[in-house]
Amino acid sequence: MGARKEVINNQSSEYDDDLLLGPRQTDPVAIAGEYADEAKLRPRTLADFTGQRDLVEHLSIVLEAARKRGGYADHILFAGPPGLGKTSLAGIVSAEMGVGVRVTSGPALTRAGDLAALLTDLQEGDVLFIDEIHRMVVATGEILYPAMEDFKIDIVIGKGPAAKSIRLDVPRFTLVGATTRMGMLAGPLRDRFGFVGRLDLYPVDDLADIVMRSARILGIGIDVDAALEIAKRSRGTPRIANRLLRRVRDFVEVRSDGVITPDSAIAGLDTFGVDELGLDKVDRSILEVLCVRFDGNPVGLTTLAQSVGEDPDTIEDAYEPYLLQAGLLQRTPRGRIASARAFEHMRIDHPVMGRFDLSS
Ligand SMILES: Nc1ncnc2c1ncn2[C@@H]1O[C@H](COP(=O)(O)OP(=O)(O)OP(=O)(O)O)[C@@H](O)[C@H]1O
Ligand SMILES: [Mg+2]
Repeated sequence: MGARKEVINNQSSEYDDDLLLGPRQTDPVAIAGEYADEAKLRPRTLADFTGQRDLVEHLSIVLEAARKRGGYADHILFAGPPGLGKTSLAGIVSAEMGVGVRVTSGPALTRAGDLAALLTDLQEGDVLFIDEIHRMVVATGEILYPAMEDFKIDIVIGKGPAAKSIRLDVPRFTLVGATTRMGMLAGPLRDRFGFVGRLDLYPVDDLADIVMRSARILGIGIDVDAALEIAKRSRGTPRIANRLLRRVRDFVEVRSDGVITPDSAIAGLDTFGVDELGLDKVDRSILEVLCVRFDGNPVGLTTLAQSVGEDPDTIEDAYEPYLLQAGLLQRTPRGRIASARAFEHMRIDHPVMGRFDLSS
């Protein structure tokens, strides 16, 4: 069991619990039961995918049109913060088109030859999913661009004056790229995608639907109000919603009858240190640095990242989107600043506005 979860080119372990699409998979549904919870929870079809309604509508048109023409889908890029469903959508594209999928990632494709081997090994119509595509090296791009456009690659054989370039056909494929950093994508690459789907943080109602769906799949008893409590603390992110659901399930199994009610959800979330806005330790230390150490003054990204011991990219991709959306942080030309709401949430007196007001 689980042995089919092969990865291509020594992918990092973060894929282990995340990527279940396998090397070339023609029937993702049939093997869903082989993997752990995470695998069961991943939506398999567009109908199964909650929220992101505009994106889902546009994508369904693109895929249906391709099916009607009896052809292949155009290259597709999914962009957005971690845990919002990019990898799931890549699997959905292959399932909806009834084709296989090969999975790799930008950082894993260190040599152009690796990509060339992967491309020539595809079957007609396959989806090639490249995760973190913004981290692909330039040499790989040189192979990928002509492959995307003309389904041909040029490879060089031999060295020095005797070196020869030969042109090979590759099967017609659909590239699905995923990125958390749209801004870092090379222009020529971005332009070669026929459809770009941007994922936004999910509103609480959609997250509650996702929690209800996951609970049903995992056989957990929960009511809608309790699902809403979990959703409110999920930072707009389905992956976090599913994780919190599992922690609350642990809590009610140990402390009560195993059924999640609004009260037990709140008690469980409090026990695990998830606050009312779902902020985790890093979110809170970001706000603490802004509110306390810098007294509400603007702070540059690098300084902020160093102060909390994280990488600037991680701050920008994984933490800022939610802090911005929750109105806790503002980006100004001079740097990041904490909003009045952040002071209130952290229960710290505002340098200008004075005491936080617990009554509001
Ligand atoms: N729209 C959705 N409906 C239901 N579940 C979802 C949805 N989007 C994501 N999920 C759940 O969240 C988990 C994370 O999604 P996924 O791995 O596709 O995110 P991602 O955008 O690829 O994240 P990363 O950038 O970290 O790779 C999935 O396992 C799935 O269970
Ligand atoms: Mg992913």
